[in-house]
Amino acid sequence: MSTYVSRNPAQFDDVVTEVPLATSADVLAACEAAHAAQAGWAAVPAPFRGRVIAQVGRLFEANKESLSRLVTREMGKVYAEALGDVQEVIDTCDFFLGEGRRLYGQTVPSEMPDKQLFTFRMPVGTAMIITAGNFPAAVPSWYIVPALVTGNTIVWKPAEQTAAIAQAMAEIFYAGGVPRDVLKVVIADGPATYDGLEAALQKRLVQKIGFTGSTEVGRRLSELAGRHLQSPCLELGGKNPMVVMPDANIDLVVEGALFAGFGTAGQRCTSLGTLWVHRDIYDEVRARYVHAVENAVIGDPFAGVLYGPMIDEKYLLTHDKHLALVQDHQTVYGSTGVGRITSRNPRAGFVGDPDAGWFAHPTIVDGVRPGDALYDTETFGPLVTMGVFDTLDEAIELANGHGYGLSSAIYTSDPNAVWRFRQGISAGMVSVNNSTSGAEAHLPFGGNGLSGNGSRQSGIWVLDQFTRWQSMNWDYSGKLQKAQMDVAELPFDPDFRL
Ligand code: UN1
Repeated sequence: MSTYVSRNPAQFDDVVTEVPLATSADVLAACEAAHAAQAGWAAVPAPFRGRVIAQVGRLFEANKESLSRLVTREMGKVYAEALGDVQEVIDTCDFFLGEGRRLYGQTVPSEMPDKQLFTFRMPVGTAMIITAGNFPAAVPSWYIVPALVTGNTIVWKPAEQTAAIAQAMAEIFYAGGVPRDVLKVVIADGPATYDGLEAALQKRLVQKIGFTGSTEVGRRLSELAGRHLQSPCLELGGKNPMVVMPDANIDLVVEGALFAGFGTAGQRCTSLGTLWVHRDIYDEVRARYVHAVENAVIGDPFAGVLYGPMIDEKYLLTHDKHLALVQDHQTVYGSTGVGRITSRNPRAGFVGDPDAGWFAHPTIVDGVRPGDALYDTETFGPLVTMGVFDTLDEAIELANGHGYGLSSAIYTSDPNAVWRFRQGISAGMVSVNNSTSGAEAHLPFGGNGLSGNGSRQSGIWVLDQFTRWQSMNWDYSGKLQKAQMDVAELPFDPDFRL
C-alpha cells in the first residue's frame, strides 16, 4: 500500500501527515457505503438536516483558528487568507442551515378541474466530490453542505496535498452530527479515483460528480459522466481578465491587481490572468504595478506576507514551464529573479528560509497579445500577463478571446463602460472596481467555455446541482381526465373588431 506524505510547503521537514492512499477498490467501497446510506439520510426530515448543518457551522466557527493554522501549514496560503477560507465554510453553513426549512416546491394550477399539480426537489443520490488543494476548506464546503442539506450522501476525494485538512474537516462534520457513511473521505491519487469512480458509475452507485480543478481533468470527468448520462458540476480553470479604462482609479487598480494576481501565489481559479490596460494610462499603470509587486513581501505565510509557498513542487514545476513560454517581444518585471526563490536566486525582502520551501518569484510578463502562448494559457501561479488596448470593444474581445470564462473585472468610473462590459464579457462572474478573486459565498460561482459547463455553485443556484425536480399531478375528480384532450372549450370570436 502506498503512502502519501503531506509536508508543509514552506518547511519541508515538517511532515503534516502520512496517509495510506486508497486504491480504486477502496474508492468503489466508499461509494457503495455512501450509496447504501443515502435512502436513510434522505428520509431524515430536511429541517433536521438543516439543524445538523447549523451544528457543523458552529463547530467550524469554534475551530476556526486551529483549522486555519492547519490550512496555512499544510497548503501554504497566508494565515489571513486561511481564516477567509474557513470563514467561507461558516458562511456556507449559515446560508444553507435555513434551506432545510425551505427546499421549496411549487403548487401549480391544472388545466382541468379537481386536479392539482405540484413540484418537489428530490436529492440526486450519491455524489462524488473531487476538489483541488488551493481552497481546501471553502470549495469542498460549497459542494458538501448543500448536498447534505438536500439529502444526498457524499464521497469526497480531496487533493492529496491537503489530506490533513480534509480529515480535520470530516471530523468536524461528524462531530456536528453527520453520520460517517453519509460523508466518506477517500485520499487517493487521480488514476485510482478515476477507476473507482468509473466502476461506481457502472454499478449506478454515483449520480453526481462535482469537480474543481483543471480544464483537462474536467474534460475527462465530463466525458465519463456523459457516458453515464450525467451532467457533472464543474469548476475549472480561468484566464481572468482585468480591464482598466482610462478613467480608472489607479490606486485601486494596483491594489486589486496585486491581490488578484499574487494572493495565494496566484493559485486561485479566480486569480488575475491578464491585466488589460488602456493605452493612455498604460505606462503609468505598469510602472506603479511593477513597483508594488517588486516591493511586496513574500515568504513565511504566518508572517503577514503577500504570499507564501506554492502548494507543492508540482505547482512550482508547472510555473517554471509557463515561464518558458515567455517570448522575445515580451518583458519580464516584478522581482530580483524568476522561477524558484532560493538563497542563490534570492528575492529582495524575503521573510524566512527560501530553501526550506517551494517559493516562487512574482512575475509580470508585459506585452502579451493574442497568438502568444501566454495569452490563452492558464498559469495558476504568481505570473500575471499585461497587454494594451485602445477601445472597450477591443478589450472585451481580448478578454474573451482565449475561451475561458470564469471571472473578470473592469476598473472604470463610467457606468456606460460597466454595462457594456457586463453584457459583452463571457465570464460567469464580473467585478466592477474590484479584484477578480474574492467572490462572496452566496452568489452563483462558476464559469463558461473552458471554465466549466455552465453549472453554478453557491447560494440558491447550487440547489439545482444536488436536487432534481419531481412533478406530481393529483386527480381527485373520480374519473380519467386526459390532459390536452379533455379540456373545456373557450368561447372566442376571432372576427371581433371595434
Ligand atoms: C477557487 O479558486 O477555486 O473567489 C475558488 C474567490 C474565493 C474562491 C476561489 N472565494 O477567490
